[in-house]
Amino acid sequence: MKVLIIYDSQFGNTEKIAQAIAKNIPSAKLLQISKTNLEDLNNVTLLIVGSPTQGGRATVPLQQFLDQIPAGKLTKVKVAVFDTRFGEKNVNFVLKIIIKTFNYAAPKIAEILEDKGGNLIVPPEGFIVTNKEGPLANNELERAMVWAKKLQK
Ligand SMILES: Cc1cc2nc3c(=O)[nH]c(=O)nc-3n(C[C@H](O)[C@H](O)[C@H](O)COP(=O)(O)O)c2cc1C
Repeated sequence: MKVLIIYDSQFGNTEKIAQAIAKNIPSAKLLQISKTNLEDLNNVTLLIVGSPTQGGRATVPLQQFLDQIPAGKLTKVKVAVFDTRFGEKNVNFVLKIIIKTFNYAAPKIAEILEDKGGNLIVPPEGFIVTNKEGPLANNELERAMVWAKKLQK
């Protein structure tokens, strides 16, 4: 199994989740999006993509990378997606409505990957930050480890 984890992160929280996932998948390669090329996708059997939610979607660099993936490139590739996002507890009423309207990055990334042929093996997952710049909510790193194990079944 060749596993690639690609992620973006503005304040480091998504990176921490990506690292926790990488630690729990033997031989997984972890790449920040600015260091990722299309060739890195060659022969990958499990692709994991993670992004902060910004305005209800992935970051611009991650989005641009996904858009460049040729049609059908992910055929027979297992894919899994996560984002980081605000928790319901940490936002006021107005922001809650905005978030409900725009939703999160992970489901949108999943849709793009499936569109490119990817086989989504688990539902898109969200990990909670308590503030825009973090930190992550309690237990999110542990939850990321459990999630990583699930991907290998
Ligand atoms: C410009 C901007 C827009 C954001 N929009 C959303 C949003 O729509 N929904 C949400 O849940 N969180 C939103 N957030 C909070 C981010 O999800 C949070 O900053 C991110 O999880 C931190 O991850 P990072 O440290 O990897 O950058 C936004 C943050 C920024 C900076």
